[in-house]
Amino acid sequence: MTLVFSVPLLVEDIDAAARDAIHAKVTAYLKTERAKRDIVPSPEESVATSYYKNEAQVLADVDLSELEQFVLATARTFLEKALKLAPRRLEIDRSWINIFKPGAQEAQHSHDGSLLSCSYYVEAPKDCGCIVLPDPIGARRSYREFTKTVGSDALTRREIAVEPQPGRLVMFESWLPHYVQCNKSAQVRISIAMNLREAPAQVAMPRARAETTPAAAVEQAAASAPLPLAKSADAKPFLLNELLDVHTDLKLDLEAIRDTIPAVVVDDFLKHPEEARDVVGRAPAANWKHEKGGKNFVDYYDCRLRFPIRPPNSMIAAAQQIIRHVYSVDTRPSDASVDVNWFRQIHEKRADFAVPHSDMTEGVRRSFTCILYLNRREECSGGTAFFRFRKSGSLVFDEAYARATAEDSRLAETGLDYWGGGAGQSWETVGTVDMLPGRLLMFPSEYFHAAHHPQNSFYDFPRLTLAFWMVA
Ligand SMILES: [Fe+2]
Ligand SMILES: [Fe+2]
Repeated sequence: MTLVFSVPLLVEDIDAAARDAIHAKVTAYLKTERAKRDIVPSPEESVATSYYKNEAQVLADVDLSELEQFVLATARTFLEKALKLAPRRLEIDRSWINIFKPGAQEAQHSHDGSLLSCSYYVEAPKDCGCIVLPDPIGARRSYREFTKTVGSDALTRREIAVEPQPGRLVMFESWLPHYVQCNKSAQVRISIAMNLREAPAQVAMPRARAETTPAAAVEQAAASAPLPLAKSADAKPFLLNELLDVHTDLKLDLEAIRDTIPAVVVDDFLKHPEEARDVVGRAPAANWKHEKGGKNFVDYYDCRLRFPIRPPNSMIAAAQQIIRHVYSVDTRPSDASVDVNWFRQIHEKRADFAVPHSDMTEGVRRSFTCILYLNRREECSGGTAFFRFRKSGSLVFDEAYARATAEDSRLAETGLDYWGGGAGQSWETVGTVDMLPGRLLMFPSEYFHAAHHPQNSFYDFPRLTLAFWMVA
């Protein structure tokens, strides 16, 4: 006799350090007003859960990125190693927290509509109730005799119970029915449930990728290497001053953002925006501020490309002229190079903007930030946002901000987390400038600003902005 069909179940324990970190964060979260608001008794079960608050996403609300990474990696093992499915980009569609007080249980149900579902145990005292998966091959039970098997192997068991344990993840296909036994311990059982799905396809397909087959494109998107290996012949020399040549009949848009930020926007700045995008977009990008324990290269890629500038350079000359005309200041470039900020998502964005900051330079009287958007039109979303620091109400770098960053590292652009690790509530957005191909944005560097990301747009190609600073 051979077994001809089977149903997969994956049980995996997270490492002890991550388990303890998650436990500490969840314990702190449960004491907050937010948790008290979001976790409510289920209308038909004895469990208390944040499932019914649609806007609550426990992974984001508690900042459980280590758990998210663990779940996504386990899901890849499930689909690719066990089921031999092609790689794809996965995301956690929903995440919620379940609190089982002594005596609480949950009736049989399934998570139809998702791909994979899982339960992670934060607290699991002895006898707090197993998750139980009854044999789903219902047709097999239509003959009474087949309901009487009592063994413990795949052929004879009628259900399988997995005992929760702190740090344990139980993952299964979402259609699979399951229930939770009664919590017979004297303490609470805390679990985090998650549904996974395939990430929605991106709207725009970059030109370089259009030549590859769809299967290869999926593989590239799923692979962790930021760029496919290039043949040596792909490397092409270029003249930077020619690549970044600017139009001579520039039109300045001096309309201040909501009458608060004295910014200048110049559209159609570059003569060859497409070529600039192509050359810059093909260059291998090196990581920026890669701090140990940080999220760069785990949650996203935040990289820098630096290009040397040899005068005369028409881009620098135009910036000089504009600053003289608008701000009446004579400036010079702060460096003999320009930087490209190269950002690409690995996982879903966790905020609408990156860490707000000001570009303060030591030892200069004035500084002006110049940002040139390089993405193609179909790649553009968001742009640059300007902020008010709530604590002081200031739009520009001040003492209150300097003190606050010393106390809370999440407020500073440390390189640990591009998204600011949930420090977003310290900021009020006062205005945004939209990204457009070849658009130049200039503003005095003391103004608080950050990359603006209203959409999850930068999975298949990077967000490319060229930045330089003009100082006096
Ligand atoms: Fe469930
Ligand atoms: Fe900046």
